[in-house]
Amino acid sequence: TLPERVKIVEVGPRDGLQNEKTLVPTETKIQLIDLLSESGLPVIEATSFVSPKWVPQMADQVEVMKGICRKPGVTYPVLTPNLKGFQAALTAGAKEVAIFGAASELFSKKNINCSVDESLLRFEEVMEAAREACVPVRGYVSCVLGCPYEGKVAPEKVAHVAKRLYSMGCYEISLGDTIGVGTPGSMSQMLAAVTREVPLNALAVHCHDTYGQALANILVALQMGISVVDSSVAGLGGCPYAQGASGNVATEDVVYMLHGLGIQTGVDMSKLMNAGAFICRILNRKTNSKVAQASCKL
Ligand code: HMG
Ligand code: MG
Repeated sequence: TLPERVKIVEVGPRDGLQNEKTLVPTETKIQLIDLLSESGLPVIEATSFVSPKWVPQMADQVEVMKGICRKPGVTYPVLTPNLKGFQAALTAGAKEVAIFGAASELFSKKNINCSVDESLLRFEEVMEAAREACVPVRGYVSCVLGCPYEGKVAPEKVAHVAKRLYSMGCYEISLGDTIGVGTPGSMSQMLAAVTREVPLNALAVHCHDTYGQALANILVALQMGISVVDSSVAGLGGCPYAQGASGNVATEDVVYMLHGLGIQTGVDMSKLMNAGAFICRILNRKTNSKVAQASCKL
């Protein structure tokens, strides 16, 4: 049975923009987040407190956090790979953070410059500081359905890392198909392994649409009882450490499918489309959302 309501975690301002080659003006990022806030989305991942040498596009994280208009009831989590990032995020006024690990050793090394075990030690430090500051922490696992450097990833490895993040106190674990290679088949196998270790209501799926499988994979996750879905307005995005990975599944397309299934999201489609049209206009880019491209409106 499908959930009655799904929480959409909008990752466009972070995952969507982090890979843009030319620097997006801070004011544009702020406007995008404010437009998304108006659309009824409950969670908008705003930026990352990562090294500007690694991801130059996120170097204006403090200005973004200070500039956005925070809508009551909406949360604005930010990525924090280590204690330094966590402290900077707290100082900038972040009320929620996310740590991000991987189910693949080589991806972990390329993305955050340490092994999976080392990353978990760093995350423990972040968790401890977050507990003291009463800041909720979300946990990501990347490469859950395949790795750009290692190929196939065993579902048991995903379950192991997800369980570690959950045990250290993450309230939600987002399972990332970083390079969008999964299919409904591999998604259901992976979820079967993970749900043996982590409760369903603490899981989210984070699908990139590289192979055009994202909506099908999300539907499988919903059928298995998952009710939190990450997506990116206009299907923006990619990962700087996963070459060829295309954008996250488009929020417009996820919302269209969910509403069609009779599942509530709280999102106003036309306001969401406005936010997508805004960022595509500024980036001078065609949207990756099928729904936004469609001209035959019902
Ligand atoms: P490192 O070089 O190993 O760090 O990077 P270090 O501790 O050795 O420090 C080196 C320098 O970085 C020092 O500065 C530190 O102060 C500085 P220096 O003395 O040379 O001037 N530094 C920092 N600066 C700002 N913020 C920080 C920070 N930490 C250290 N937090 C590090 C390690 C993790 C920092 C680096 O590898 C990094 O920033 N990686 C981020 C990569 C990233 O953002 N990737 C994209 C997000 S993940 C993703 O997209 C996947 C996801 O969407 C899910 C999915 O799709 O699967 C979430
Ligand atoms: Mg991602």
